[in-house]
Amino acid sequence: MLDGFSIAIMAAGKGTRLKSKRPKVLHEIGGRALLLHVIAAAKRLVPAERIYTIIGHEAERVRAAVEAAGVRFVLQPEQRGTGHAMQMVKAYFALSSDITPENLLVLSGDVPLIRTETIEAVCTMHLKEAAAMTILTAVPPDPTGYGRVLRRKADGVEVTAIVEQKALTQEQRDAKEINSGIYCFRTQALFARLDSLSTNNAHGEFYLTDVAAMLVADGERVVAVQAESVDEVLGANTIAEMMHLDRAMRAAAAHRLMAQGVTIFRPDTCVIDAEVEVGPDTVIEPYVQLLGATRIGSDSRVRSYSVVQDSMIGSGVLVRNGCVLDGAEVADGAVLGPYAHLRPESRIGEGAHIGNFVETKKVRVGRGSKANHLNYLGDAEIGEGVNIGAGAITCNYDGVHKHLTRIEDGVFVGSDSTLVAPVTLGTGSYVAAGSCITQDVPEGALALGRSRQVNKPDWATRRAARRSQ
Ligand code: UD1
Ligand code: CA
Repeated sequence: MLDGFSIAIMAAGKGTRLKSKRPKVLHEIGGRALLLHVIAAAKRLVPAERIYTIIGHEAERVRAAVEAAGVRFVLQPEQRGTGHAMQMVKAYFALSSDITPENLLVLSGDVPLIRTETIEAVCTMHLKEAAAMTILTAVPPDPTGYGRVLRRKADGVEVTAIVEQKALTQEQRDAKEINSGIYCFRTQALFARLDSLSTNNAHGEFYLTDVAAMLVADGERVVAVQAESVDEVLGANTIAEMMHLDRAMRAAAAHRLMAQGVTIFRPDTCVIDAEVEVGPDTVIEPYVQLLGATRIGSDSRVRSYSVVQDSMIGSGVLVRNGCVLDGAEVADGAVLGPYAHLRPESRIGEGAHIGNFVETKKVRVGRGSKANHLNYLGDAEIGEGVNIGAGAITCNYDGVHKHLTRIEDGVFVGSDSTLVAPVTLGTGSYVAAGSCITQDVPEGALALGRSRQVNKPDWATRRAARRSQ
């Protein structure tokens, strides 16, 4: 934790260059909003109540999306530039009882790959150099669009100014070192200069970056520190740039898992979120998505085109092609799919089989039970060793309420049966194929819930003969 520091995260901008209705900082990469990545990095350094998130464009939507993180919010009702955003922070401290910190670390809500270690390095440098402002920089292959950081001497730490892309002179155009939009300020040095910023520039905005030259003019020390990797300070101003960051983040997740003994074929085709955990010797085939808080044990296999969201999968599980899991729990040795759809609160027991085109929702399936073809199982308690025939379904919904179907151990449900809930099939009972079951079936009984078949001898032959006359 950093003593004497608070963190401001600028997240009020609209993101005009995205051409999207959604506020930029709520666009997702690696399965999570840009802003939440930045907040997560910040929270590893200071407690949430010392993180000030500046919101403005679609403020309520942004606030609602990140509120659970426990950070504070500073409203910037009109977005008149990054300098104006910091004017709002200054006004906030003037009015609130929060203690104005000695140093203020400023992060950008649209620079999401930033690592905690890098932010820490900026703060360390700031203290060591006794600077008024410390700027995190990088040298990307293409600096176009970024502000450039001009150093006093090429090999020195001191900076003379930050110049925005549109204001670069012919000679400055060769400057390759970019401003990451991440800074550390001695708070009073920053606050004392915010009122002197002007909008006399290409965008007609208050630029926070102008503070650098103002400090230098007053004889204050402004220094720069270069990030170890360029990728982590890349901003996302367009969808294409954002997808570039998404790819970097997903690739990092796949590499982390492979380093832990997971086999991922064609990792470039898989979409894996940062928090996903997978045990060793599990195999992930091409074109698989593992999302959110998903956990998978060891020696399992997830075949191509499966999408697993927020689910727990045990060890030795086979997820065949094209399965969709959302909020499901699957115990060791189970076999799913191909094309099974496990919806929230599906709990599949050890060694159970949920097969082709089977949909489950809020069910518990006991050990070794099988539903292999074309079933819908919703709001059901299914015991061990149950066999559910092709096409059988639970009718859980009466148009108003959901009702429970209980299928006890060892039950055999014949194909194409409809089980109208609430209903219980007792232990070891049988349901004849094609039955519509509306009453409980006692233990060990056979239930036939269908009209009796009538055969009319020669009917078809006589009809054919009549027609050919
Ligand atoms: C800014 C820097 C530029 C730097 C780049 C790094 C300025 C003037 N320029 O440019 O030197 O290279 O970041 O990514 O600061 N925001 C607000 N309120 C506003 C305007 C913006 O909160 O009124 C927020 C945005 O939501 C965004 C961040 O500040 O998260 C940066 O704003 P943006 O417009 O993206 O600045 P850049 O043009 O990228
Ligand atoms: Ca930006």
